[in-house]
Amino acid sequence: MRRAAPLLLLLYLTGAAVNADDSAFTIPLYGEKLKGFVTVENVADDQYVLSFKMDEMPDDTRLSLHMSSAPYDSGVMPENCRRARKTPHIFRNQPIEDTTVQGSQLSGHTLILGTPESIYACTTVILGSQPLMAASFHEDPIQGPIHIIRLKDKVRILPDLKYIPHYEGTIGVEFIDWAFVESCENAQNSNQNAVGMELGVDSRATLTIETGVNISLFNFQIFRNGKPFACSPIVNVERRSIKAAGLKLVQPHYYVAARNVGDKMDQLKIREDCLDVATETPHSPFHDYFPTVSIFGPDTIMFKSVVLNTTCHALRPTFPLPSAMVNFFHPTVGRLVLVDTDDRIILTGNLRSLTDKDAARATVQISPKPAPSEECPLYLDDCTDCFTVPDAAIIVGKDDDAVSLIGVLPYFKLSEMRSVIVDLQWTEEPFRVCANLTYLPGGALQVSLAARRYTPVSSKTMATVVVLEYPANEYSEVVVNKRAEISAVEAHARPVDMAVTSGPPCGDQNIGSKARAPQWLQIIDAVIKHGKNTSTYVVDDMLISGANSLLGTSLLLSHESDYYCGTFRFPQETNRLVAKIDGELTGYVQMSQYAMTGDIPTEVSYSITRPNSTETEFLQWEIVSVTNETCEEAEVFNPFKVESTVCSDEKPSQCAIGDLSTKAGDITTGRKQHLSVINLPVSGVRSVRDKMVRLSSTTTNETIGCYRLLLMEDATFTWMVYSNQSLIALQSLMAQRLHLEHFQIALEYNRELVGGRCSSYRVTVLESNERLADILFIFDVENKKFREDAELICGKQEELTSSTTTTVGPTTTTASSKAYLTPSDTSTSTSGATTKSSTTTSQQPVKSSRSSSIALGILLCALYW
Ligand SMILES: *[C@@H]1O[C@H](CO)[C@@H](O)[C@H](O)[C@H]1NC(C)=O
Ligand SMILES: *[C@@H]1O[C@H](CO)[C@@H](O)[C@H](O)[C@H]1NC(C)=O
Ligand SMILES: *[C@@H]1O[C@H](CO)[C@@H](O)[C@H](O)[C@H]1NC(C)=O
Ligand SMILES: *[C@@H]1O[C@H](CO)[C@@H](O)[C@H](O)[C@H]1NC(C)=O
Ligand SMILES: *[C@@H]1O[C@H](CO)[C@@H](O)[C@H](O)[C@H]1NC(C)=O
Ligand SMILES: *[C@@H]1O[C@H](CO)[C@@H](O)[C@H](O)[C@H]1NC(C)=O
Ligand SMILES: *[C@@H]1O[C@H](CO)[C@@H](O)[C@H](O)[C@H]1NC(C)=O
Ligand SMILES: *[C@@H]1O[C@H](CO)[C@@H](O)[C@H](O)[C@H]1NC(C)=O
Repeated sequence: MRRAAPLLLLLYLTGAAVNADDSAFTIPLYGEKLKGFVTVENVADDQYVLSFKMDEMPDDTRLSLHMSSAPYDSGVMPENCRRARKTPHIFRNQPIEDTTVQGSQLSGHTLILGTPESIYACTTVILGSQPLMAASFHEDPIQGPIHIIRLKDKVRILPDLKYIPHYEGTIGVEFIDWAFVESCENAQNSNQNAVGMELGVDSRATLTIETGVNISLFNFQIFRNGKPFACSPIVNVERRSIKAAGLKLVQPHYYVAARNVGDKMDQLKIREDCLDVATETPHSPFHDYFPTVSIFGPDTIMFKSVVLNTTCHALRPTFPLPSAMVNFFHPTVGRLVLVDTDDRIILTGNLRSLTDKDAARATVQISPKPAPSEECPLYLDDCTDCFTVPDAAIIVGKDDDAVSLIGVLPYFKLSEMRSVIVDLQWTEEPFRVCANLTYLPGGALQVSLAARRYTPVSSKTMATVVVLEYPANEYSEVVVNKRAEISAVEAHARPVDMAVTSGPPCGDQNIGSKARAPQWLQIIDAVIKHGKNTSTYVVDDMLISGANSLLGTSLLLSHESDYYCGTFRFPQETNRLVAKIDGELTGYVQMSQYAMTGDIPTEVSYSITRPNSTETEFLQWEIVSVTNETCEEAEVFNPFKVESTVCSDEKPSQCAIGDLSTKAGDITTGRKQHLSVINLPVSGVRSVRDKMVRLSSTTTNETIGCYRLLLMEDATFTWMVYSNQSLIALQSLMAQRLHLEHFQIALEYNRELVGGRCSSYRVTVLESNERLADILFIFDVENKKFREDAELICGKQEELTSSTTTTVGPTTTTASSKAYLTPSDTSTSTSGATTKSSTTTSQQPVKSSRSSSIALGILLCALYW
């Protein structure tokens, strides 16, 4: 039925301006005795009229406008209003009636409704026409945001700096100097000094400075005792929204209440986490607003739980936040994610015990040191740099429903943390589990697909699909960009593989037959066919790390007789292990996994054949650790020592790492295949590197052989040949001369014609690092030919081409010099240089240190280019 699609499909406008229509907007006013709305209407240039519509208001109420801000923090709102009233006023004690105010006086200032004795409500007015910007500080002992509003020829500053809770210095009102600076790096030379106006710590009085219209607002620098103290980039404040089932709350900034834009709710019952019934607090709405909760600020309800019609859900954000994640496999399975909300660090995720029936609570510690390979450390008492959430993490019993846990930590620099320790509080070993953190600056894992039109002379990208999975938010975002009309979309089972030379890249020989349509295809299909040239959609599924991972799947797009294809790939490096199979059977098994984290599904591709046989055989496959014993006797690789009885294809995380047939099914001979397998680490402590793949016959149970998994890397270079040879012949020739198997040699389908008679191809060979150096000794990368071969005579344009052959292309140099210079340095592998996954063919190899946010930036540049 078609009805499923709209449920999954949710149009998501990124970067949509809040209050785009500034001519009039309404702000709720909410206090114990006063409830209503103020409408702010733009009537002329810089002229605004305030009009009031009250549900409830004491007769003695008067209106004042004060030069201070009052963040919308429901818990301390009366106090925030009181503090605002202590600052200078623009007007005060006016009757509650239509009032005309200049925009420059209203913007960023606070309306206070009350009497000289008591305050009934207050609100800071942020005009939609003037974007709200902010810089935030977390430098001991000062923390908090500074909001900035650009007025016509002025800038208004709304400070909210505080001392950290455990500050031991004297707390008085401290004044600090500040400046707008071009760059935080050389702040000493700041030239845009503020004209003698100081900021107060613990003061929310606004500053307004005359700047002229052309001031650039890049960074905000603060000085203490005349020395640079902290510097922070000035960014636009984006609205925040969170959702759970039909509920969706939106808050444009920290100066207004949260509004429900989802299903109408009579009450919000919020709990710390779903199992913590004692913490349940009801919140009542005021029209569409929930004035007693906030998404911004230290008391955010993000990631807390809400009970809707007796079912409990986590309130997850629908916007990105920097985060870091960690996965556990045994004896506790699950994922923890740490999220930087800018005020706090929030711990969220799910943990399940594989052995216990009952739920338990565990203490979680975040450490700046990496997790050791063996014993997990006991930091509880003596790690002063660690952050601890005592007894917060629920570990549900083995058969319980999943529960989202939450823990709140004080702010720390998430990017500097390296590992997480979960104290299981068991009385026997293991007492704790620990694992390394993966930091995601953009809050997301990212894979992308570039669908190319392959012809012998070009491989133009006609569409790109970028998938961002937000581990904390538990959804994925799909960004589609197309440059051509597309009328059909199919998923195919295998990645585009340039080592397949028997047919074109988008043919069935290469990408396999049409796959049974996965659920995500419905969304991508609709977006690609009917969406705008660029569109973003949200899917409530984990499309990268989840069970329906689209990693390694290809899309075949077409319109009339044009075909475009590409594969979902990480833009960053992946680790690759290859076992070559020879003897009775021939072929290979290749495993690859995103290098940064070991908890992403591993892509396995294989091709195994029995020479002179066309029958399909089923083979059992396992990974074994062979030391002194024979291959047959070797034990299945099981570093966690799990009981094999619980293992099944439905619970792959409860299997021995090496028990591949149970986790992913038997493998077959004859055809090239591709699958993705979870709980199969290719790097790190539990890596299957240098272990053996054991194949056995499923009919006789006899072991056929064991084949070692070796780390392999790519090197890419250009090869110039006479044009009269087929791709398949060239691959065979290269295989023969370099002593490689065909699967190790990828030849770009498109070539460059040189002179009348020659073509140059880009070749990527896959080999162990040591052998790559040998290969590049046999092959002369600079001259694009084997060293022992004579120069080619390419015909007419010879002069022209010989001058270009002396200038070496960027990729060629890098690939070769890297392999020579760092033959043993696996961390700088050149696998990123494969041109099939990058968007432009002349790109430099991707460095492994490249962060995903930068990668995303590059991709988005490519998208909008
Ligand atoms: C502001 O910048 C614009 C364009 O760069 C320039 O034409 C204008 O003269 C500048 N105004 C001032 C006051 O510097
Ligand atoms: C809750 O129940 C009401 C009526 O019983 C129903 O209309 C609504 O859709 C339900 N909401 C959810 C989220 O199940
Ligand atoms: C964590 O990372 C460090 C290096 O960064 C590595 O030596 C260590 O083995 C890793 N620990 C685990 C448990 O993977
Ligand atoms: C948008 O897509 C259409 C085909 O669907 C194409 O003709 C047009 O050039 C594209 N526009 C841009 C700006 O790429
Ligand atoms: C396959 O058949 C060829 C010719 O019939 C023979 O020379 C070769 O030894 C056979 N290979 C195997 C592995 O049986
Ligand atoms: C393998 O055999 C050698 C010699 O017999 C012995 O010294 C070594 O300890 C054995 N290793 C293992 C892991 O059993
Ligand atoms: C192979 O092993 C399975 C399970 O251990 C067993 O059921 C089957 O009978 C065995 N087959 C042969 C031919 O030994
Ligand atoms: C291809 O062309 C070259 C030079 O023109 C010639 O020497 C060679 O024999 C040709 N090879 C084939 C297979 O036709």
